[in-house]
Amino acid sequence: MKRINIGQSGLMASPIGLGVMRITKLNEEQATALLESAYASGVNFFDNADIYADGESEKLFGAALKKASFNRSDVLVQTKVGIVPGKRYNFGKQYILDAVDASLQRLGVDYVDSLLLHRPDPLMEPDEVAEAFLTLQNSGKVRQFGVSNFNPMQVELLQQAVPQRLIANQLQLSLKHTGMIDFWLHTNMADDHSIDHDGGVLEYSRLKGMTVQAWSPYQYGMFEGVFIDNPKFPKLNAKLHEMADKYHTNVNAIAAAWILRIPGNTQVIAGTTYKDRIAQVAEAADVVLDGQDWYDLYFAAGNDLP
Ligand SMILES: NC(=O)c1ccc[n+]([C@@H]2O[C@H](COP(=O)([O-])OP(=O)(O)OC[C@H]3O[C@@H](n4cnc5c(N)ncnc54)[C@H](OP(=O)(O)O)[C@@H]3O)[C@@H](O)[C@H]2O)c1
Repeated sequence: MKRINIGQSGLMASPIGLGVMRITKLNEEQATALLESAYASGVNFFDNADIYADGESEKLFGAALKKASFNRSDVLVQTKVGIVPGKRYNFGKQYILDAVDASLQRLGVDYVDSLLLHRPDPLMEPDEVAEAFLTLQNSGKVRQFGVSNFNPMQVELLQQAVPQRLIANQLQLSLKHTGMIDFWLHTNMADDHSIDHDGGVLEYSRLKGMTVQAWSPYQYGMFEGVFIDNPKFPKLNAKLHEMADKYHTNVNAIAAAWILRIPGNTQVIAGTTYKDRIAQVAEAADVVLDGQDWYDLYFAAGNDLP
């Protein structure tokens, strides 16, 4: 599989990443098989967070990584911190440092390739975050830094204090979650889609060379369910199947290729727990959708031009 240069940082990652938020339904052997299938399909990027299954996802991922037939150094491991489950977000210096130590221990690794701040904390003190990042970089515990669910001004606020260039912003994006695209297409109109919910983060990320990592690429709503082959979305699925035939691939790959077609080193973080499905998703990296096909999929998902 080809590689993308995440946020122009030199981290050369597969455009398809595997997110492990849901893996605790697997046992260690199954989790190892999932990682090995991903790696065999060309996926070298794995996304974690300290809060997934209260840390159990990181533990299971770490155990599977140890057992897997590839080396830790052959892949890129990312995790996210900053959410205190059910309580608050916390970007305090000591909180970040302790959270990273705890993650490294659960993951069973000496360093993560990238660390994201999971959701913007209104109490954030950028200078404090900067101190934490510097400590983490100097100790070799974290190679690169980024954010998740941030709007452009929140990125700017942090970036003016942090010496490292923020390389990625992980955002919800799928054929059924297209607010960032809708806003682009409806600029300066009077309809609902013209309302700017995210500060033009897609345009901003491209301008700054930050990679957009698309989370929940197959979900509609906020974890309401999977849209692939869901009878609720007949038009979209008819189009996905038509495109899968046209591009000699499968529907999961087409839905991921739709995201990858958005310019700017976009990456897809797929959350499948099924080892055969990650191989199917990986096929997206070889699909470059024709522009009209990209628009037609967007229309089939229930959208239109203004
Ligand atoms: N930054 C954030 O705030 C944030 C938020 C949420 C998630 N994330 C990251 O994004 C990753 C992906 O999120 P996600 O898991 O919600 O993404 P997803 O890939 O959209 O959803 C994965 C789920 O969809 C199912 N699925 C996919 N294709 C299917 C098909 N053709 N038929 C039936 N089921 C299908 C999978 O089932 P199988 O397991 O059976 O394939 C799995 O249960 C997470 O692991 C996490 O790393 C980040």
